Amino acid sequence: MVLRHFLQFSDFGTEEHQWLFQRAAEIKRKFKNYEKYHPLADRTLAMIFEKASTRTRVSFEAGMYQLGGSVVHLTTGDSQLGRAEPIEDSAKVISRMVDLVMIRTYGQDKIEKFAEHSRVPVINGLTNEFHPCQILADIFTYIEHRGSIQGRVVAWVGDGNNMANTWLQAAELLGFTVHLSTPTGYEVDQAIAGIRSGDSYKVFRDPMEACRGADLVTTDVWTSMGFEAENEERRKAFADWRVDTDMMKVARPDALFMHCLPAHRGEEVEAEVIDGPQSVVWDEAENRMHVQKALMEYLLLGKVAG
Ligand code: CP
Ligand code: NVA
Repeated sequence: MVLRHFLQFSDFGTEEHQWLFQRAAEIKRKFKNYEKYHPLADRTLAMIFEKASTRTRVSFEAGMYQLGGSVVHLTTGDSQLGRAEPIEDSAKVISRMVDLVMIRTYGQDKIEKFAEHSRVPVINGLTNEFHPCQILADIFTYIEHRGSIQGRVVAWVGDGNNMANTWLQAAELLGFTVHLSTPTGYEVDQAIAGIRSGDSYKVFRDPMEACRGADLVTTDVWTSMGFEAENEERRKAFADWRVDTDMMKVARPDALFMHCLPAHRGEEVEAEVIDGPQSVVWDEAENRMHVQKALMEYLLLGKVAG
C-alpha cells in the first residue's frame, strides 16, 4: 500500500472523507452491538504527546485495543524527545517498531518532519495549526444528527486557531460555509489555514451576525495550549465572543452547538448553552473514537469491507 499520512484535513479528498464517515458509522454500530472487530490484530500504534490530553489519548488508546491492536504511549517528559533527540532520528526509530504513529505537538512543521522520515502512517492528534481528527468527529456528529453538512452554515465564534483553520479546510472539501467571527488580532490567516480561496467562508465583526441563520454554532477555548502566557490579554480581547443563549436564538431553530472540549463555562460559552438541549458535545467527544477507528483502519488496510 502507498504510505499515507493524515497531517491536515486536506490530506484526504472529499470522497475519502465520505468513506471515513460511512466506515465510522459501521464501526460504531459494531461497537454498540458488542460485535468483536479485530482488523488491526498484532498492529501497534505509538502515541506521542507533547501537550496534555484527555479525549485524544482515551479515544486512540481504547479505539486501537477495540480493533485488536495495542498502543505505546510516549510523552516529551518520559522519552528522549524531551532531551533534544532530533525528530528525524525519533521518526526513523519509532516507525521501525510500530505500524502507526499519532502525534500531538506544537508546530505543524514538527509533525511534517516526523512524517517525512517515518516508514508508517502519521496522524495529527493536534498541532498549533490544525486538529483534523476533531473536525472529522464534529462533522460525523453533524451528519448523525442532521444529515449531510453540504450547503450548511457553520458559525465559528472565537479564536482563529487550529480548530478554526481545520473547519475552513473541511468547508472547502465538503461544500459548506463557515461564518467566522474573531476579535481583532485573532483572525484566521488564510495562508496558515492552507485553503485555496475565500469562497467557503465569510468574516463577521459581530459574533451575533455570524450566528444568524447558522445550522451549527461552535467555539473553542480563548487560550489554546502553548499560548498560556497570553491568557490575561485574551480574556479582555475575547469578552464579547462568548456563545450565549441570544446567539443561539438567532441561529436556526434546529441549530446544534459544538465545542471540542475541554470547555470553560462562563468564558467562551455560557453553561446554559453547553449544557442545554442544542448541545451535542458529549456525542462529539465519543465520536472521536469511532472516526479515528475508521481512520486507522483506512490508513493501514485501505477500503475494507466488513
Ligand atoms: N478535544 C480534544 O482534543 O481533547 P483533549 O485535549 O482532551 O485530547
Ligand atoms: N484549541 C485548543 C483545542 C484543545 C483540544 C488547543 O489547541 O488547546
